[in-house]
Amino acid sequence: MAHILHIDSSPRGDRSISRQLTKEFITAWKATFPNDSVAYRDLGHYPVPFIDEAWIAASFTSPEQITPNLESTLVETSDTLIDELLAADVWLFGIPMYNYSVPANCKAYIDQIVRVRRTFIVHDQGEYQGLVDNKKVFVITARGGTFSPSTPNARFDFQEPFLQTVFNLIGVNDITFIHTENLAGGIEARQQSLENARAEIQHLIAACGGLKP
Ligand SMILES: Cc1cc2nc3c(=O)[nH]c(=O)nc-3n(C[C@H](O)[C@H](O)[C@H](O)COP(=O)(O)O)c2cc1C
Repeated sequence: MAHILHIDSSPRGDRSISRQLTKEFITAWKATFPNDSVAYRDLGHYPVPFIDEAWIAASFTSPEQITPNLESTLVETSDTLIDELLAADVWLFGIPMYNYSVPANCKAYIDQIVRVRRTFIVHDQGEYQGLVDNKKVFVITARGGTFSPSTPNARFDFQEPFLQTVFNLIGVNDITFIHTENLAGGIEARQQSLENARAEIQHLIAACGGLKP
């Protein structure tokens, strides 16, 4: 039995394409693996706070030297988010493309969960090591334009490379992106894009049979 963490980050509600597709993903997953459990976090409607000076001071202070006051800044949000993330076997993110990258609420979340001694460590020589393993990650993106490899705008995709790099940093390498592109390209293009994403979701879940944690 696997535990899934489903995270949406669109500030939009029912009109959000990424939300529609993550919802369909979970419905299809539960139909295939009915015993799996799902936790949900809505960054789009309930954003997490930006990290601040106290957060930085607390996260870079050694456990022996930290004061209760500093520690409380981490416990409230960052620890909760990291515990929730580590408790899940599968992470499903719904992420719109905003200004070629991720929405600010998603970046705020990443700043909270990428934390020294919790999700990565830095060795004496300066090399980084991720502390998170055995996670399977699906990222469903929604994009007005088209940025797939071999298209003219591929070089403007700062969303997938950023997420890939950040997940790799914390030790997570099994990442699958489902891009819903060209949503601003007219009714037919949009419909085609949704159909492609839906087919990919069905295919990926069916293929998960032998790989399921
Ligand atoms: C503030 C903002 C910035 C956006 N920036 C981009 C962009 O850089 N590239 C792009 O292809 N689409 C961009 N879009 C379009 C969204 O990616 C698209 O509307 C997508 O469907 C949003 O996800 P959602 O439907 O889940 O809310 C932007 C939309 C907004 C509101």
